[in-house]
Amino acid sequence: MTTDLGPLASDFVGLETSYRTGRRPRRRHYLDSAATTLMMRTAQDVSLEFLKHHGNPHTTAHSSARSATAALHWARDVVRGFLGADDRYTALFMGAGSTACANRLAFSLARSRPGKPLVLVSSMEHHSNDLPHRRHSTVLRVPLATAGQAPGAVAMDRLEELLARHSGQVNYVAVTGASNVTGLVNPIHDIAELAHRHGALVVVDGAQMVAHMPVRLAQPDPRRDIDAFFFSGHKAYAPGSPGGLVVKTQLLAGCTPLELGGGIVRDVTESSYALDPDGEVREQAGTPNVTGTVTLAAALAALGQVGMEAIQAHEQRLLAHALERLAGVPGLEIYGPTDLAAAPRVGCISFNLRHMEHALVATALNDDFNVSVRDGCFCAHPYVRVLLKESLQELEIESLSALEIEHLAERRRGMVRASFGLYTTETDIDALVDGLAAIGRQEAHYRGRYDVDAHGARPRNAGAAGGAGAALFSPQAALEAALGRRRAAVGEPQP
Ligand SMILES: Cc1ncc(COP(=O)(O)O)c(C=O)c1O
Repeated sequence: MTTDLGPLASDFVGLETSYRTGRRPRRRHYLDSAATTLMMRTAQDVSLEFLKHHGNPHTTAHSSARSATAALHWARDVVRGFLGADDRYTALFMGAGSTACANRLAFSLARSRPGKPLVLVSSMEHHSNDLPHRRHSTVLRVPLATAGQAPGAVAMDRLEELLARHSGQVNYVAVTGASNVTGLVNPIHDIAELAHRHGALVVVDGAQMVAHMPVRLAQPDPRRDIDAFFFSGHKAYAPGSPGGLVVKTQLLAGCTPLELGGGIVRDVTESSYALDPDGEVREQAGTPNVTGTVTLAAALAALGQVGMEAIQAHEQRLLAHALERLAGVPGLEIYGPTDLAAAPRVGCISFNLRHMEHALVATALNDDFNVSVRDGCFCAHPYVRVLLKESLQELEIESLSALEIEHLAERRRGMVRASFGLYTTETDIDALVDGLAAIGRQEAHYRGRYDVDAHGARPRNAGAAGGAGAALFSPQAALEAALGRRRAAVGEPQP
């Protein structure tokens, strides 16, 4: 498949990384971008340039510190622009990803809107967009619509019922923009309109959206605006960058910051302190991760130049190819509806090979086919449980009781997930499909080679199993090589 993404599609660190499978090293097929993406070289270049001017933005006296401050402002503007957030929004950066942002929001919104004790959370959330809300509010669950046989996106009628029943009591609706299990996309602006009608805000987990589809937080009709949106920089081609939270500035007014420290105060005495009135300043205690933030903004700016519509169209073509080819693998069960027109998805597909444990399949894909996929419950246990139970019910087990089905689901709890990035190619997908077909054909062979338990699959005989796990990165060896290069550069003898 030719791509219309220009040079960006091959602009990543690690695309040529090879591991040994069988006798020789072969290029890895990285299909785990929903967990974390590879580093975009352009973004890395920008951060290396920035590091020549690195300084602490809490100072204004010297040029490097001023460069750092300006770089942070630039990053905030880029991120807001990329997400279609106008000047009513503030961009904040924190922690290592979405989790830090969700915790911050849950803490702040519970305190700034104390008369609204309830939060509605969908049944397809990552734990990061569920547990923080449970800690600070009372969570009610929004069920999923049934799309054909499989559970689909959020059930809008059930959401409306809940909002109407608890009108005025709901602080916000927390929903993922796209699922990290099935890739299913939720109608976030329709959800926002419903929520706003009942005095609730909408908080969107954008971790699986931001690098995969266009996002416009501010809509022509403000009733459809998203109030708060968060995402992980490491899932948007900028490993090492913080989480990004873009939020309506008025929601920060009067918020107590979660963290206290330097950089956020006007004055401190031994017995009191006065916080900076600016929400953007007040929410960022301590020295920010400027390098990571600049890397993240550069990655998003580069994506923006290619255009998220083009990136989405490319991913949809790959997705259609993958779904069509996976449908031909005997015994493969894909979770969630697969009609892309009726149930839109991002490039993320979870599945099981019937009767085979997910850990065994994922490990064999790695060891023999150099295909990197994730397996397990993807930090979305309730959703995975729903999907597995639904799919078990579709098998010939109508005669089993609900309890027996639950036990069966528990034993098989987990899936294999393949997820795409800008650099994913049809060759990667074909390697996955061919690997799955071969593993399914040789089930007895793989069962003989691995011990499988709740912790994963391990080769019975490590020597005989060989495989792609054999050639791992060694930080110590990389350090020694780097030190050796430094010594050589200054003519020092090697130890
Ligand atoms: C939908 C979704 N939300 C939240 C998270 C948590 O992100 P992080 O681990 O970067 O904090 C993830 C990570 O997989 C995710 O996929």
